[in-house]
Amino acid sequence: METSVSGRVAVIRLHRPKALNALNSTLMHEVVAAAEQFDADPEIGCIVLLGSDRAFAAGADIKEMQTKTYADVHGGDLFTEWDRFAAVRTPTLAAVAGYALGGGCEVAMMCDVLLAADTAQFGQPEITLGTIPGIGGSQRLTHAVGKAKAMEMCLTGRRMGAEEAERAGLVSRIVPAADLEAEAMTTAQTIASQSLPVAMLAKEAVNRAFESTLAEGVRFERRVFHATFATEDRAEGMAAFVEKRTPEFRHR
Ligand code: HXC
Repeated sequence: METSVSGRVAVIRLHRPKALNALNSTLMHEVVAAAEQFDADPEIGCIVLLGSDRAFAAGADIKEMQTKTYADVHGGDLFTEWDRFAAVRTPTLAAVAGYALGGGCEVAMMCDVLLAADTAQFGQPEITLGTIPGIGGSQRLTHAVGKAKAMEMCLTGRRMGAEEAERAGLVSRIVPAADLEAEAMTTAQTIASQSLPVAMLAKEAVNRAFESTLAEGVRFERRVFHATFATEDRAEGMAAFVEKRTPEFRHR
């Protein structure tokens, strides 16, 4: 894994080229620790997760899992650590080129914004290994693309290309592979230029849609909307509009 910071954007790059970025436990520890460290840093307004041109990540490391028993995986609560990545409050963006399979697809789906290169391939092929998705794939994929496609993908292991993924609502946009990282950075910089506390609230409000009824979600949104009026940045944002200037958010 490699990390870098550009302005208010932090980048985490998965880098295990010989294994198509398969997510072994070392890589998992590193990614989760880096994400939490950036999340705790108020100077970071967006965290970008990248892979390589060939693979975002080809899944959890099958060679590492191969000899594990039920007692090992249940006793060690295998992969629970990834829940901490999903719990990051700073907005996250995954830019997927090539394979995003199994755990790779699941980690991409944990991110708030998902951009795909035209080469992207999404899939949950665990069934072909005699197992099932283990870090939220059966749930997040179903929320994203609906039961029909999620069920077929989880039962057959069929992969979804970028066009289908965009049509189905899994990704927000497709970008030519050569432009993916630049576009990811531009989008991340736009997110990071907003008020961080307000962006965190916006993220929380959208995520609430997956966990509540419409009435509860709307009530939650209303209260959070009211809460933005307690921020200095809300006052600055509206003053800047009225004064026809760019807002200078101070992230408070
Ligand atoms: C370990 C992997 C791997 C994986 C690829 N590699 N995927 N190693 N775990 N998930 C390794 C290969 O063993 C090989 O190493 C090298 O990466 C290159 O892969 P190839 O298969 O030679 O490449 P290619 O023919 O281009 O095929 C690419 C591929 C294929 C279609 C992505 O590698 C593949 O099907 N991978 C497994 C995909 C998968 O089933 N993912 C789900 C994993 S289970 P060597 O040393 O031989 O050169 C999972 C469970 C999630 O994610 C549950 C909770 C996280």
